[in-house]
Amino acid sequence: MTGASALYSKRAALYVRLIRLIGYQKGLERVLAVKMSEALKGGARVMDAGCGAGAATFALIAAFRRLGRRPARIDGFDLTPAMLDRFRKKLDRNGIADVRLRQADVLDLENSLPPGWLNYDLVITSAMLEYLPRERFPEALASLRGRLAPEGRLLFFISRKGRFNRWAIERWWHANCYDQSEIERALRSAGFGIINFHRFDAPYTFLNSWGYAVEAY
Ligand SMILES: C[S@@+](CC[C@H](N)C(=O)[O-])C[C@H]1O[C@@H](n2cnc3c(N)ncnc32)[C@H](O)[C@@H]1O
Repeated sequence: MTGASALYSKRAALYVRLIRLIGYQKGLERVLAVKMSEALKGGARVMDAGCGAGAATFALIAAFRRLGRRPARIDGFDLTPAMLDRFRKKLDRNGIADVRLRQADVLDLENSLPPGWLNYDLVITSAMLEYLPRERFPEALASLRGRLAPEGRLLFFISRKGRFNRWAIERWWHANCYDQSEIERALRSAGFGIINFHRFDAPYTFLNSWGYAVEAY
């Protein structure tokens, strides 16, 4: 078991409680529905990369609903079985049967995803890319780009560099933080041409001190 997988096996319940406490999923839902609505097309095929217990997927489902649209299907993968178990239980509790989940490593998608998991209109990833070794960040972005349909978009949420995050994200949650220019550089080297940084609106503006909401295609 790798570092991130061991961490999230041990701290799955703590992580889920913590993000519920700060309203993370609601913050994602709002920025998705308000700032990224153009990317949320009815009938979209969606993949949640590093889905964990499902915060981004549930935010996305709610954002689509707010816009009066529906995705065609949602697939999700994560490295940690304990997080996927939590996600499955939450889907069951909510009566959602059409989300497919797999255990997979974003750094080895060729060998760990089912062969048909390609051509997505939308790939979303939240608070996962920070767990990769810094030097493999562009490679992971390129491999997610490789899963997109020609007009597809990558939407991601990632911890930013800052004094609070040095303690909260780097020390406590053992993850990397990035600044805007590092993210832009990595996206360009992964082949993305259009890059938009969005801000979280009130009442979720506190999430701007945590991280970036990024759209790339
Ligand atoms: C902070 S949690 C985020 C979970 C979820 N996306 C969310 O927004 O709540 C980080 C997740 O990334 C997953 N992860 C870390 N490294 C990964 C990798 N190489 N491939 C796939 N998932 C990974 C962990 O297992 C964990 O579930």
